[in-house]
Amino acid sequence: MTDNSILPEDRNPLGRNLLELKRPIVLVGLMGAGKSTIGRRLARDIGLDFVDSDEEIAEAAGCSIPDIFEIYGETIFRDLEKRVILRLLSSEPTVIATGGGAFMNAELRDMIKSNAISVWLRAELEVLLERVSRRNTRPLLEQGDKRAILTRLMNERHPIYSEANLAVDSGEGAHETVVLDIIQRVKAYSGDVS
Ligand code: S3P
Repeated sequence: MTDNSILPEDRNPLGRNLLELKRPIVLVGLMGAGKSTIGRRLARDIGLDFVDSDEEIAEAAGCSIPDIFEIYGETIFRDLEKRVILRLLSSEPTVIATGGGAFMNAELRDMIKSNAISVWLRAELEVLLERVSRRNTRPLLEQGDKRAILTRLMNERHPIYSEANLAVDSGEGAHETVVLDIIQRVKAYSGDVS
């Protein structure tokens, strides 16, 4: 019998957890850095499940991220975000794409640092802007000029994102190149922490 619930691109013909990771990989970085797209491909290529923390939050709350911000406010969103990511960190190793603000929470950052391999997906302002302007699903960017907001967030957050275990550039090129870069870096790094 064919299992139609698994899309062909989600199947890994080579096997599960190819890097034999004991910890999840947590992707951090600004909105538009490509955490979800790259994370999904990375997970597929190394035979792990992929989880997007924003999707998990929306599912737990029963409404979209913009609706959570509008109805309950950012503080409640951050609380949900923290709880969801803490839960994800304690399950089997997966690839976790976090929302851009998650790593800014000191407690969550410490938990990520001690329980996961964190990867900062670093991208130039123009790349971020190009990507975020395709959708209007990010409440923080709907509060004014996207360029100005992203510039401010880069200044505030880049020093904190740089505390991640690894930093990988996510440019305009093919996502697959970034994925390969992450795999090589994680492989070299995970020997020290597994
Ligand atoms: C946010 C980033 C978003 C989402 C929320 C807040 C942030 O996720 O969690 O809108 O504070 O940077 P992405 O980084 O996946 O867009």
